[in-house]
Formats: sequence, C-alpha cells, structure tokens
Amino acid sequence: MVEKELIPAFELRKSLGLFDESDALRVFYGPGESTDPVLSQIAIDVFLDQTWITRWAPIPDKALMNLVGVLRQALPERCRGIVLMDRSEVASEKDSVPLDGEVREGKFVVKEFGVPYLVQMKQTKHPGLFLDHAPLRRWLTRTQKAKRVLNLFSYTGALSVAAGAGGASSVTTLDLSKPTIEWAKENWEQAALTGPKGDFIYGDVFDWLPRLKKKGLEYDTILCDPPSFSRTKTGAFSTGKDLARLHGLILPLLAKNGILVTSINSENIPERAYLSEVEAAARLTGTRLQWLGRVDLPESFPTPMDPKQRYLKGFYLRSV
Ligand SMILES: C[S@@+](CC[C@H](N)C(=O)[O-])C[C@H]1O[C@@H](n2cnc3c(N)ncnc32)[C@H](O)[C@@H]1O
Repeated sequence: MVEKELIPAFELRKSLGLFDESDALRVFYGPGESTDPVLSQIAIDVFLDQTWITRWAPIPDKALMNLVGVLRQALPERCRGIVLMDRSEVASEKDSVPLDGEVREGKFVVKEFGVPYLVQMKQTKHPGLFLDHAPLRRWLTRTQKAKRVLNLFSYTGALSVAAGAGGASSVTTLDLSKPTIEWAKENWEQAALTGPKGDFIYGDVFDWLPRLKKKGLEYDTILCDPPSFSRTKTGAFSTGKDLARLHGLILPLLAKNGILVTSINSENIPERAYLSEVEAAARLTGTRLQWLGRVDLPESFPTPMDPKQRYLKGFYLRSV
C-alpha cells in the first residue's frame, strides 16, 4: 500500500522537473494525495540529502518503518538522515526527532531556483523554509529589482532572501520571535547579497507599523504572511478577527504602484471573506487596490479539485 501511493507521488515530481529546480521539496502530501487513513496524515519533505516527515495523527511503527524502507529504495540520495515531526497533538512543544540514518547537525544550505536558504533538521519544530511558499519566493526572485521591501511576520526571512536575490534595493525583515529574527540574519548573511541593504527588526507588527509610518517610510513591496493566531505583549492577533485592522496599518506604508502580497494559511477563512477584510482596510485608508493575481500552493502540494482544500490563500494587490 505504502509503495503504491508513494512511488507515483515521487514520479509526479520527477516528471514535472521539480527535483531539478530545488533541493527542498514536498515529495508526498498525504492530505491532498491519499485517502488511506494512515498516509493521508503524513507529509514527506526533502531538504538536500535529508528527509523531514510530518505526521498529523499517531501512526503504527510498522507503517512508519515501511515508509522509511520505500523512501530508502526510491530516493536514496534524499534520505541520508530522516527526522520525524509529530503534530498529532495540537499545541505540542516537542521538536523533531531523528528517526533513521545520519541526521545533519545544525543549519545547512539548500538551493531553490538557485537561491540559498538555511534549514535545520534537529532541535527545531520546523525546518525553517515553508515549502508551500516556493511560488512566492520564485516571484520575488524575478520581480524585485530596485524595490524597497518590507517583510512582515518574516519567520526565518526566506522571503527576504528571495527579494534580495531578486535585486531589491533594501529589505526590512520583522518578526516577534528573537531566535527567528537571528535565524533571518544568518540566512541573509549566508546568501552574501552585495546589492541590497538589510534591516532586521525584532518586534510586534502592530507596534512597528505605526512607527515606520511616523518615520515617513514607504515600501514598493510589502509581504504579509501572518500566523492564524499569535499572542503579543499588548494582546492577541487572530486571522479570524484582525485582518482588517492589520491591513489598515499596512496600506498607508505602501507606495503608489507598490504591491502588497498578503497570504494566510487557513482552511477556515474563505477567500471571499479574506478579500472583504482587505477591501474594508482599503476603504478606510483611502487606498485604491488593483488585483494582480493569487498566491497559491505549488505543484508539489496536489489537492482534490475542491478549491476549499487549498488551505493557502493570498493575493498580489497593487496600489493605484
Ligand atoms: C507563518 S510564519 C511566516 C512565514 C514566512 N512568511 C515565510 O514564508 O517563511 C509567522 C511568523 O509570524 C511571527 N509573528 C507572530 N505574531 C507576530 C507579531 N505580532 N508581530 C511580528 N511577528 C509575528 C511568528 O514569530 C512567525 O515567525
């Protein structure tokens, strides 16, 4: 059973040329690609010669070992070390655990569309590169020449590196987590970008957006990719109720003809409702927005035809 589902998934990625474009790739996306009760709860990601397995439900050891066996046969060069991330408990504080082989210590570089990013397998809850945002990173590498970029909710700053590699003149990277903003700095430094100026802010978006406005700053590209929920010193944020408030603070910083890329990772908020929140913020701030396109999942995240299953949603919007 495992083999019957995994091998076609690997073959699909090979036939689409996805392994040629990137060292980092989702090679199996259970929720979208399988109806099997075990496999539908698993995702398999490769990072150069390492494999990161995520499970969203407890899985029998035998099934897991079967899966490792199939991986080792089919993609031997991608699974020198294998880690397992257990997401079966919602608010678990646990890190990934080594499962098999030689798992790399510390951070190492993977290349995606020729751009280097730092990832980590051990002692972390996430490898540091969101594979579902590969299309957005590719867009940034192609479109940011001479742009002033603001990356909000930056996490490890992968979008900042992509924008810098795309020729941005400056990139400001902002996140509320100290270890994360340190990782973002490391990520920026390892990319050895000589052109753009890189600024890093450790702080709360809701606190910093008005401060940047007061300083008279504006940006040609603003990236906004918030988590579904976060707690800050002054309160809490949730995509369920704060999207208009958030965008109301962002839009005054967007230059004329500037592009806002806004995305959320949520099955529960329909695309139309999300857009309505952004439209409300645009009305409130007197911003006229033009629709350029959607931020969507890459081909390495196949889903059933029902668009509701495409949890990632977002838009490229231009201020005119
Ligand atoms: C979904 S991740 C962003 C992923 C990132 N855009 C990428 O593509 O790599 C959300 C990030 O938002 C940060 N965050 C949460 N609340 C925040 C806030 N109020 N201000 C700034 N950053 C915040 C978290 O620390 C986390 O790193």
